[in-house]
Amino acid sequence: PTTTEPRHFLSISDLSQTELAALVKRAGDAKAMIKSRKQLAIPLKNGLARQTVAMLFNKRSTRTRISTEGAVVHLGGHPMFLGKNDIQLGVNESTHDTAVVLSSMTSCLVARIGQHSDILSLSASSTVPVINALSGLHHPLQAVTDILTIKEAFPSHFAQPHGPQGPLKLSWIGDANNVLYDLMTACAKSGITVSIATPEAYPVDLYMLKVARRAAEEFGNGSVVEVCNGGPEEAVKGADVLVTDTWISMGQESEKALKLKQFSGYQITHSLAARGGAKPHWKFMHCLPRKPEEVSDEVFYDNERSLVWTEAENRLYAAIAALEGFVVMEGKICPEGVT
Ligand code: CP
Ligand code: NVA
Repeated sequence: PTTTEPRHFLSISDLSQTELAALVKRAGDAKAMIKSRKQLAIPLKNGLARQTVAMLFNKRSTRTRISTEGAVVHLGGHPMFLGKNDIQLGVNESTHDTAVVLSSMTSCLVARIGQHSDILSLSASSTVPVINALSGLHHPLQAVTDILTIKEAFPSHFAQPHGPQGPLKLSWIGDANNVLYDLMTACAKSGITVSIATPEAYPVDLYMLKVARRAAEEFGNGSVVEVCNGGPEEAVKGADVLVTDTWISMGQESEKALKLKQFSGYQITHSLAARGGAKPHWKFMHCLPRKPEEVSDEVFYDNERSLVWTEAENRLYAAIAALEGFVVMEGKICPEGVT
């Protein structure tokens, strides 16, 4: 544990454009090294040797849990999974007290503990970096993963983001939620146009929109973040990637019947892509877990288009890059000072 103020990773906005690109590159490099069964290079290798990472989860998780535990081990450290019945948090102990105690004995807190305000409180009281493993508003590890997955599928955009071919276009058809908010900002920071269709009852948060639009302007390749009032068909026009997430996020189970009605017409299907005029080569992404209502089986299991399994696997490499950047390198993600 360090005595200086730690740098936390709570949302994609915590990263500059260059830092996001550096994390994505590092994640890709880690993937290549692990897949070729080579040792992770210095400073990755043994970056967390004899260190522990506390993982506070009071919501279910498959990918985030497995990828984070795996990433800590790849870096030579020891993950401690603390589920909601394992520690005193939320029952006998406050967020503040938990943060002070855990950060006195570990090198990082990775937390999925509910509302975004909870993770803000945790980070305010922690003396080690806090990494958001999904909150009500953000899912930054997923967004780093998704940019890596898009980069692998469309390398030419990343080789020449200001090139004459124009920006790549990602369409989000679904709920206005945590996954969208970090994905749209990450896309904006990568020069990717985002067009969004959500049901009228679930508008995109205006502050999040402003943040993403500012990032797109800063990128300066003509990419934009647009909300399509014309619905899903308008949003998929000219899209390279179609993305969605569950319509019923964890904690919203009681809204299921109502939301299923309000999202009628929002299922991603081959027919929607054709009617709306997505590009012929369009790909599909979903952070998982998936329910059939938001995407048809034909699209989800279409191996030509669906990137979902690669996207899930890429969580491991994104977690390695994030832990390395925020913990091993103490937040100095671009050590040359270029951000
Ligand atoms: N995508 C994602 O965060 O999945 P889990 O909820 O299984 O961690
Ligand atoms: N929006 C979903 C994402 C799950 C990974 C949720 O918050 O439950």
